[in-house]
Amino acid sequence: MGDSAGDSIHDYINYLQGIGVGYIWVKRKREELLDGIAGEIRACSRCELYHSRKNPVPGHGNPYCKLMLIGEAPGEKEDEQGLPFVGPSGMRLNLWLERIGLKRKDVFITNIVKCRPPHNRNPKPEEMKKCMEYLERQIRIIRPCLIVTLGKIAASVLLGVESVVRMRGNLFHYEGIKVIPTYHPSYVLRNPKREQEVFEDLDVIKEILEECDGSNG
Ligand code: URA
Repeated sequence: MGDSAGDSIHDYINYLQGIGVGYIWVKRKREELLDGIAGEIRACSRCELYHSRKNPVPGHGNPYCKLMLIGEAPGEKEDEQGLPFVGPSGMRLNLWLERIGLKRKDVFITNIVKCRPPHNRNPKPEEMKKCMEYLERQIRIIRPCLIVTLGKIAASVLLGVESVVRMRGNLFHYEGIKVIPTYHPSYVLRNPKREQEVFEDLDVIKEILEECDGSNG
């Protein structure tokens, strides 16, 4: 046997395989699984965005959250820091979270596309398609009680919803998980009159979160 814990575990697995144990179920923590995906994203070259990005933005937050928020793609500040929603949109998003009694540490935030599109252009369909597999795995690991999509792109990719104006605040499902679409904070920064509608959506979101049975933890 080796002298580190890792060596001991490997030796033990070899021993089990040696006596004919075919499958070994290893329960890994969510943080470990999400870190693994983040590592893959940091090394990703599936689409052309990897040429221009400074830092990929895998997502950040609480792996045991009830609420997961999904935006579109990193902007300039996010690209600099490798973290989601740290620019002006993020500041507005923080205020929305505060309104329902949440802090950033309570939620997990990520995007449809993990690398910044040049000059903040919309992500291309092939970029979203190639990146989506990361998000699908993140959602399956976290399995939050509720997902909130921010803006048109996240709503259309996840739900097939084309008009956030008409569908916002309504309840949808993605793989059995509740989803509420709302406006993107950057849209609200450009159209401040729309914020009242986000406040209405936040009331619905708060109510759903209060009804979560906590089984996600
Ligand atoms: N806009 C997004 O959609 N995502 C971010 O992370 C920042 C701005």
